[in-house]
Amino acid sequence: MSREPMERPEAVIPPYLRGLTYDGVKGLCITRIDTPPAGEVLTIECGEEDQSQEQLLEDAGKQFHAYTHKHQSYPAAVRLSTGAVFGLGVDYQEASAAAGCSILPQVKGSTSRSDVVRNKIALVTGGAQGFGEGMVRGLAAEGAFVFIADMNLTGATALAETLNAENGRTTALAVEVNVTDESSVEKMLYEVTQLTGGLDIFISNAGVLRAGSVKEMTLRDFNFVTSVDYVGFFICTKHTSRVMALQHQGSSDYRADIIAISSKSGLEGSNKNGAYSGAKFGTIGLTQSFALELVTDGIKVNAICPGNFLDGPLWSDPEKGLFVQYLQTGKVPGAETLADVRRFYEAKVPLGRGCTTDDVMKALLYCIEQHYETGQAIPVTGGQVMLN
Ligand SMILES: NC(=O)c1ccc[n+]([C@@H]2O[C@H](COP(=O)([O-])OP(=O)(O)OC[C@H]3O[C@@H](n4cnc5c(N)ncnc54)[C@H](O)[C@@H]3O)[C@@H](O)[C@H]2O)c1
Repeated sequence: MSREPMERPEAVIPPYLRGLTYDGVKGLCITRIDTPPAGEVLTIECGEEDQSQEQLLEDAGKQFHAYTHKHQSYPAAVRLSTGAVFGLGVDYQEASAAAGCSILPQVKGSTSRSDVVRNKIALVTGGAQGFGEGMVRGLAAEGAFVFIADMNLTGATALAETLNAENGRTTALAVEVNVTDESSVEKMLYEVTQLTGGLDIFISNAGVLRAGSVKEMTLRDFNFVTSVDYVGFFICTKHTSRVMALQHQGSSDYRADIIAISSKSGLEGSNKNGAYSGAKFGTIGLTQSFALELVTDGIKVNAICPGNFLDGPLWSDPEKGLFVQYLQTGKVPGAETLADVRRFYEAKVPLGRGCTTDDVMKALLYCIEQHYETGQAIPVTGGQVMLN
């Protein structure tokens, strides 16, 4: 019986090797290559098709350890006897070149605050615009390699190209995904294992909003919001945690982060917005439950609950943004202009303004740097929602 794609040696060995090369902060970047490697190659015998995954990884680990013990260095590339070849490196450039790894085994990674995400592999769903784009830009600026995962592949690709041009190297890649479709999410994670060997930070950000009275909202709209904002987080965590668990199998210290972008509407109800608010509350329930389970795989699971991103497309889009909609439907009493609607929402915030991606980035970096917290929902609401 042939293995499913995510169970094949080329999908499980790279995350395991990330675990074996863990430097106390992250593992190496491991990239599939189709040109002959320039540096030294270790061939890993993968054994029979029907052997267990445990046996496959144990044997691969022994061969890798024997190499590093003998050479006191990492190979430039690993060739699996099944055919796939992967370059190893501290970052995507070095791994793609497969000319030699610039870090030696046993060398510890930097734990300095300025290096919290440096050379870590991150993935942001819904990364093509809005908060997602802000986090992609923020993570890339902090030195992470970022997958921009979105249904909007054109937007994700354009953003990746911009960032790579700005940085003068490949620091972001676009990947197409529909988070409500399990086979699409599985395919995304297969791509991740082939491009970087695995990932350290997963941000479940893709979300949609359809407001409406409980008396009138269609079941179809309710299900649409629930499938993206709630079910999508489950599907993504299911498949991401499997890859992260393989890294942890390679090193029992390996730590990774799953972070859900919930909302202030996940902390208190939202009038005529029940589908969204319910999904965002539910996201926090999943966060707490997944955190309890995945702690044994070295995975922290937290949620961030931003306030209204008034400068983002959801609110400010000149045609279908919420400011325009609320002005047209008279939702804000006495409002005559878009600026009146905006002021109405700003006045609800003790700190007097909307939430920005910079505010969210600070919470994100805190989640990752803080090793002594999991299962939390962190408000970033300018004081609009206070925990009790
Ligand atoms: N905008 C706000 O005021 C606000 C406030 C609090 C929380 N949030 C949350 O932040 C997240 C991002 O919100 P935003 O306002 O930046 O959104 P946005 O509408 O600007 O962007 C959402 C992105 O997600 C992508 N997307 C939608 N459905 C998808 C799917 N099924 N699979 C993959 N990608 C998909 C879209 O293509 C888009 O690029 C959401 O989870 C949202 O609920 C937003």
